[in-house]
Amino acid sequence: MIGQNDNINLEVNDKKKIILGFYGLFYVAIIIIIVIAGYSYLGKLEGFARNNLIPASLTGDTTKPVTDLPVVKGSTTPPIDLNSAVVVSAEKTDAGKKLFETNCVSCHGSEGKGDGPAGKTMNPPPRNFTDPKGWTNGQEFSKMYKTLQEGITSRGMASYSNLLPEERINLILYIRTLRKDFPAIDKNELAEVDKAYSLSKGLKLPSQIPTRTATELMLEEKKQQETKIDNIVNAVNSDKTTKGAEIFKRVSKDIKRSVNALASYPKWNENETAFVKFVSLNPESKGFGPAMSSVTSEELNVLFLYLKGLF
Ligand code: HEC
Repeated sequence: MIGQNDNINLEVNDKKKIILGFYGLFYVAIIIIIVIAGYSYLGKLEGFARNNLIPASLTGDTTKPVTDLPVVKGSTTPPIDLNSAVVVSAEKTDAGKKLFETNCVSCHGSEGKGDGPAGKTMNPPPRNFTDPKGWTNGQEFSKMYKTLQEGITSRGMASYSNLLPEERINLILYIRTLRKDFPAIDKNELAEVDKAYSLSKGLKLPSQIPTRTATELMLEEKKQQETKIDNIVNAVNSDKTTKGAEIFKRVSKDIKRSVNALASYPKWNENETAFVKFVSLNPESKGFGPAMSSVTSEELNVLFLYLKGLF
């Protein structure tokens, strides 16, 4: 029977439910308001970023151009013995003449008189090599080498540092044939040149690659590695005939994890001992189960050869 007290209790319970329900709605409403406020804040954040009020990096805007290093292929400058390199031969002056024709005649003229077509409007005009007077750096071998290596850029003479040392030397040997009275080359000035540009040592320039390209290459490599791992896992799973596959599936509780572990340490591949060492160290973390400890040495050998063939 339901008495009056029960009725009152029911009513109280109903009220509690209504109140609780109201609070429930209240919380839902608060959460909705927070979410809406959050969205509008994020929207404004972008607006700020567009107006450069906050740095682009805070909103993840990476579309702004970033200056990065250019790609430079590593190169080596072969060591050179200046004393023998400056001994004149027809071969060297011919090589120098060819270089002169492709690189220099436009300004210095075909006879080196400083009257090339591109030099007509230049001020100062390109050097006339047949005239001994008025040289900026000087007409000695060491001074001409400096000119070709560093250029006199403020006066319109470019640097030819992109040529090999030997090519610069041959150019100078050729220029020296254009007149009889160039000063003789002395040993001291050769030693100076050698010291200034470490010619007898040779020079190794490392390759350089932009950070962005490097990141892309790394991501690409990672993708390739992942594809390789997926392919191996698929090959193992679909292999129902090979003894090696059968053993592998028996000893590994998680083929993908095992393949990943093996891929991360390629040295296991060298010989069976290395493989056993690798697998028995923390086998669980590499996906190998207790069955691993009960394989026979013959099975181990089959397994090793099978895996070696997969990777
Ligand atoms: C774009 C035009 C131009 C080209 C190309 C050019 N030169 Fe020159 N060169 C000049 C000018 C201009 C001067 C004069 C600079 C000065 O008076 O200081 C000069 C001066 C020189 C000098 C004399 C520097 C001195 O001490 O006065 C030498 C040596 C020289 N050039 C060699 C070369 C050789 C070798 C090449 C080719 C590999 C070459 N130049 C290509 C414009 C050029």
